[in-house]
Amino acid sequence: MRRFIIILLDASLERIPQSISEHPAILRDAKRRRKKPEKILLDDSIHHSAISHLSLKEKRGRPDILHFCLISALDSRLSKNLEIYVHTINDEIIWINNKTRLPRNYNRFKGLMEDLFERKVIGNGEELMKFVNTNLDELLSSIGCQTILMNEHGKESEDFLRKAMKNNIAICIGAFPHGNFREETLEVMRKHNAIEVSLGRQNLTSNYVINRILCIYEELHERI
Ligand SMILES: C[S@@+](CC[C@H](N)C(=O)[O-])C[C@H]1O[C@@H](n2cnc3c(N)ncnc32)[C@H](O)[C@@H]1O
Repeated sequence: MRRFIIILLDASLERIPQSISEHPAILRDAKRRRKKPEKILLDDSIHHSAISHLSLKEKRGRPDILHFCLISALDSRLSKNLEIYVHTINDEIIWINNKTRLPRNYNRFKGLMEDLFERKVIGNGEELMKFVNTNLDELLSSIGCQTILMNEHGKESEDFLRKAMKNNIAICIGAFPHGNFREETLEVMRKHNAIEVSLGRQNLTSNYVINRILCIYEELHERI
């Protein structure tokens, strides 16, 4: 069967870094949730003042972007043909079973992600998601098919994507709030000869881009 892989890149998903674990905004939240700061997911809507002390602050603390993207992918009629990976801002790789039904409620999603960081795997009997002991470079090597990087500045267009989708394909979409991919991530993309595809010069949301990709694929392979 043809492989259709989606990788959510530089995803804004991490636990509270130690360097800000004593910040009042973090301590307040930890007390309210009765959890240790290092077990809590970084969330800009609650920890904004603490995040301003971090490097790459414009890219941190937005697990909601990943939540939207995963719901779109897993809800799609294509989900049973999809392979889904999350690449985090700390270069960790999470595999998501395409049978997973995610909580729609954002707070419950965050709780699930906190469990995942703690236990490294979620699932009773069947694994629903897990941290894979690899990095982006190794993941792309093991996948071994055409890599596409979705980027507003890309040279290729939707037409190219349509043609490329006739073969095995791994499509990478940024899942962070602002700016470009991290330089380390771009280096890996170059190493794997990723082709950059643009859907126009407008800066679109990750959720729109993933939905557009799913629609193009669906139109192309009508019998799903
Ligand atoms: C940088 S993130 C920004 C996310 C946004 N703030 C949100 O809330 O979803 C958006 C990602 O979608 C993709 N993207 C955005 N605009 C695009 C475009 N015009 N063409 C192709 N891909 C695009 C890129 O992969 C980019 O990293």
